[in-house]
Amino acid sequence: MDEQGILKKLDELNFTFEPSEQERKHYLSQIESYTSKFYDALPNLPTYSPTGYSTESEDDFLKVENTDDFNGILTYINERIDAHGLQPASGGHLGYIPGGGLYEAALGDYLASVSNQYSGVSYASPGAVRLENSLIQWVGKIVGYTLGFAGNLTSGGSIANLIAINTAKHSKQINSQNVRKSVIYTTQQTHHSLLKAIKLTGLDECVVRVIAMDETFSMLTNAFEKTVVEDLQNGLNPFLVISNAGSTDVGAVDPLEDISNIAQKHGLWHHVDAAYGGFFMLTEAGRKTLKGIEKADSIILDPHKGLFLSYGSGVVLVKDGLKLKNAFSQEANYMQDTVGEYDWSPADLSPELSRPFRGLRMWIPLKIHGVAKFSQCLDEKLLLANYFYVKIKALGFETGPQPALSVVLFRYVPSDGEANDFNKAAVANIHHSCKVFISTTSIDNVFWLRVAILSFRTKRKEVDVLLGHLKDYLAGVKVK
Ligand SMILES: Cc1ncc(COP(=O)(O)O)c(C=O)c1O
Repeated sequence: MDEQGILKKLDELNFTFEPSEQERKHYLSQIESYTSKFYDALPNLPTYSPTGYSTESEDDFLKVENTDDFNGILTYINERIDAHGLQPASGGHLGYIPGGGLYEAALGDYLASVSNQYSGVSYASPGAVRLENSLIQWVGKIVGYTLGFAGNLTSGGSIANLIAINTAKHSKQINSQNVRKSVIYTTQQTHHSLLKAIKLTGLDECVVRVIAMDETFSMLTNAFEKTVVEDLQNGLNPFLVISNAGSTDVGAVDPLEDISNIAQKHGLWHHVDAAYGGFFMLTEAGRKTLKGIEKADSIILDPHKGLFLSYGSGVVLVKDGLKLKNAFSQEANYMQDTVGEYDWSPADLSPELSRPFRGLRMWIPLKIHGVAKFSQCLDEKLLLANYFYVKIKALGFETGPQPALSVVLFRYVPSDGEANDFNKAAVANIHHSCKVFISTTSIDNVFWLRVAILSFRTKRKEVDVLLGHLKDYLAGVKVK
């Protein structure tokens, strides 16, 4: 059969991917009922199910096939995916840095996928780009940036950090000639996504200095400046300092303003990782803790942490927006129609071209709930962390520093026996109970338990469940 024949045959088959109105209603009603069941069950679902099904088992259902069993698909998701491992939607998730999962963000994703707006390029979707740029302006104002900054809605904090580090590299003209003499300053609390960004941008050839911290895990600015001065005297090229506005490990906040002042004095780029802590700028207490953040050259924040969105939302901000554009914009012949009097496009401010329209997942929850509710909820997280800090001390646990934001480190030191072993057993017991989930860290070979309070569903009830569990655990193991 020739091509015309094949085409005619295919035409006669009259296949379509378009669901009928009835099918669409069917899918949506099934999804609605799935969602309702999920929400009804959530308060009693285990926060962590350590024993899942074997991932090695043959799964017939995963075979690609044509099925009209949409309910079977939902059952698979429920039984094989949602029921295993960590339950990030649970208010009992107090580990790592909890994410969110606002329902309205899911509606935003749905709508963005239906129309599939080409949000990377202003020419293609001026409305989508305008909305995202407005959100960037809103976030910029929260951190205290004024005119001239620019940014990008990314998939999360790791990519946001990568964009910022590449912008710093480009702006400070680090190249093969000077890379080995160039110096980056971090602390032991720097997130590993930044170490990845350093690798990905080829900056791992630089000298990377880990600056000493005080007892709250904050960078010692005297030590930082002294090292910069010594490096300059030795003919090196200090060009980048990375600080924390809420480290993942212990929630540490560096002296942001002082670091910016030192960076400015010696010509360094100051990048602030505020992935976890940034949206606490919506609270009065947070603004005090993160004072001076607006002096930084670049800042990242994660709406899928501090704005309670489901995973897939980060923000990078660069104070001098042109520097961001210069680091990323790239011409191409086939893109010539898109050049003109348009808003700045995400494609010119990040490595991505085609990308999901991320604005709706962030804008719809903000429109529906209003900003004040987010501020209140964040205030509640700060207070809950302090509440836990006081109560856990009263139970006889040793603690880390007073929480700068909402991460608390604690451990029990028994009068006899090995403290690390004791605390490892305690966390295993908590996970076994499945009621709440916490995570752990090791600092200088000392094993710590940690809670991070950030889920919008975490209330005093969940914190009390953990405190009650730890109290019972201590009583049960008959600690002297
Ligand atoms: C302080 C900090 N920076 C960066 C990241 C990386 O962000 P993401 O997981 O969104 O890629 C995280 C993640 O928890 C974080 O807590």
